[in-house]
Amino acid sequence: METGPDVGRFFLYLRGMKHLVAPSLLAADFTRLAEEVQMVNNSQADWLHLDVMDGRFVPNITFGMFIVEAVRKLSTKPLDVHLMIVEPEKYVEAFREAGADVITVHYEACPHLHRTIHQIRETGAKAGVAVNPHTPVSVLEDVIEDVGLICLMSVNPGFGGQKFIYNTIPKLRRLRDMLTVHNAHALIEVDGGVGLQNAEVLLQSGADVLVAGSSVFKAADPTGAILRLKEIGAELRKFA
Ligand code: DX5
Ligand code: ZN
Repeated sequence: METGPDVGRFFLYLRGMKHLVAPSLLAADFTRLAEEVQMVNNSQADWLHLDVMDGRFVPNITFGMFIVEAVRKLSTKPLDVHLMIVEPEKYVEAFREAGADVITVHYEACPHLHRTIHQIRETGAKAGVAVNPHTPVSVLEDVIEDVGLICLMSVNPGFGGQKFIYNTIPKLRRLRDMLTVHNAHALIEVDGGVGLQNAEVLLQSGADVLVAGSSVFKAADPTGAILRLKEIGAELRKFA
């Protein structure tokens, strides 16, 4: 059964949890990296999302553990490291040592996903699994109780500033129902094209963590943009 917006609002109330906001550093001005991280430190953001891309799993290259380590020194927020790389199991420990608090690997990049999830957990990090827009959430059924976070990609990974793929909404509802059926407690993260225009429906549909790149860092007032993304949930809870 899929839940509609009203039921979603009710569930948001029942779950009683505040959603998390994770600005994605990919959209930041890297010539002012320290200032951008400082802005996030001084904001209502919960996590800082870091996109690692290898030019193989995705058609773009960003940065590796060296930058994660530098950001760790600057950031007071937990680091949510999204690995868009092939063979991520080779680098799990290195990213943990660099300072990652959450390590998310892609379902599509992990032939031995169960093993990789437990490898991440053994480092002490929260283990996340991301699925591309074309991947059904049903493939996660047998690991749903092992993971701490499931990231639904709402754009094809590789670039910031892309258009939100609307099919993510029914997918999110299916995943929320799956977690309920399994009595599993993984956080649901939505990543790509997220901003004030869709944050409300995402929260009503079951999202726990909103990743926001362009809608935060390209805003005239990034701190205000983060605050507004946080406040949307508060409004919903008040009227639920
Ligand atoms: C896309 C990345 C996202 C991206 C989001 O591959 O995983 O985290 O930075 O950026 P926006 O919010 O601009 O879509
Ligand atoms: Zn990401």
